[in-house]
Amino acid sequence: MILAMLWIPGPTEVRPELLAECARSMIGHRSAAMTELIERLDPGLRLAFGLEPDSSSQVAVHSASATAMMEAALIGCGPRVLALVNGAFSRRWFQIAQLLGKDAHAIEANWGEVVTSDALRQKLDVDGPFDAVTFVSSETSTGTLTALDSVADALIEHPDTLLFSDLVSYIAAAPVDFDANRLDFAFAGVQKAFALPPGVSVVCASERYLAQVESQPRRGFYLDPMRFFTGHAKRKTPATPCIPLYYALAKQLEDISSGATLPEGERHLAGAEAWTARFAKHVRMRAMTIAWAHSHGLELFPDEAHGSPTVSCIRGDSIDVAALVTGLAERGFEISNGYGELKGLTFRIGHMGDHTEDGLGELLAAADEVLAAQPV
Ligand SMILES: Cc1ncc(COP(=O)(O)O)c(C=O)c1O
Repeated sequence: MILAMLWIPGPTEVRPELLAECARSMIGHRSAAMTELIERLDPGLRLAFGLEPDSSSQVAVHSASATAMMEAALIGCGPRVLALVNGAFSRRWFQIAQLLGKDAHAIEANWGEVVTSDALRQKLDVDGPFDAVTFVSSETSTGTLTALDSVADALIEHPDTLLFSDLVSYIAAAPVDFDANRLDFAFAGVQKAFALPPGVSVVCASERYLAQVESQPRRGFYLDPMRFFTGHAKRKTPATPCIPLYYALAKQLEDISSGATLPEGERHLAGAEAWTARFAKHVRMRAMTIAWAHSHGLELFPDEAHGSPTVSCIRGDSIDVAALVTGLAERGFEISNGYGELKGLTFRIGHMGDHTEDGLGELLAAADEVLAAQPV
């Protein structure tokens, strides 16, 4: 079976060089080689989370998917949690809070919309204080972006409330300024804009969050944030980690930081500049996708000002969405139908990671062909 190229909202395509890292010989996870491997991760991770060299916030990697990090964040905070819900993944975080027995509250926005700063301020004033607020920066189910600074601004008068952000389909495609956006816990799986196979999460926590974790009872073992952050700092993992992905993540962070993943003319860039150029590529890929949609009379599902940098969710009102998905698959490109109740009504193109504008051009040209064959 020939596999189609992945243009879904994740996992996304993985470069052969990174797949090769996953095929390296195993090392012992308590060995000096493992210590060296973990040490290679921090410089790139700190750039990804936008940490200044003197920041006291800490990065870590844990061998678990992003959903586990939603759970870990909440294990480390007090009982009163407010979830900003505007799609399937932000709803999942709210459900996890309920399942953990938190005093969980939610502000719900329609899918494709964002919870406004005013709604957040009002809720905090009426029902606060909360121990933590959760939100999803790029709601992959609807391709909707919630700007990190908009949530931070609404919390100015609530300095004791912790702020947790899901950066799953955001980080490595768009800038994160963890400290300036007063984040306390933020995470992502690596199968989206890091363009790696799924299986580990990258995570960042503030000093004040880690101080609070210590006072929480019953934190369990595997998802106790204190255990995996302290472990990472000592270059030890709490349990046997997914070593192949540590290799691939180390190389990918180094490649992004050295400009190796950029379009040819930009490969001289390095460090923070290389990351910024990677973000700019994602902005251009989003613009290409939206322009293509417009050329077919189609609109983005969220307001364009809130279009995710990695996932364009497009209304399929005037087209046969299932036929578009199938027609593209026949031509070697896999995109996604709408999520849940949006199936058939929208479709999603994941333009992220190491995908290029040339590659996106090929996908969109194939989509032109498929749509041309559809009855009007
Ligand atoms: C925004 C967002 N959050 C959380 C998740 C859950 O990630 P995982 O399936 O890796 O646990 C996803 C998965 O697509 C996602 O897109």
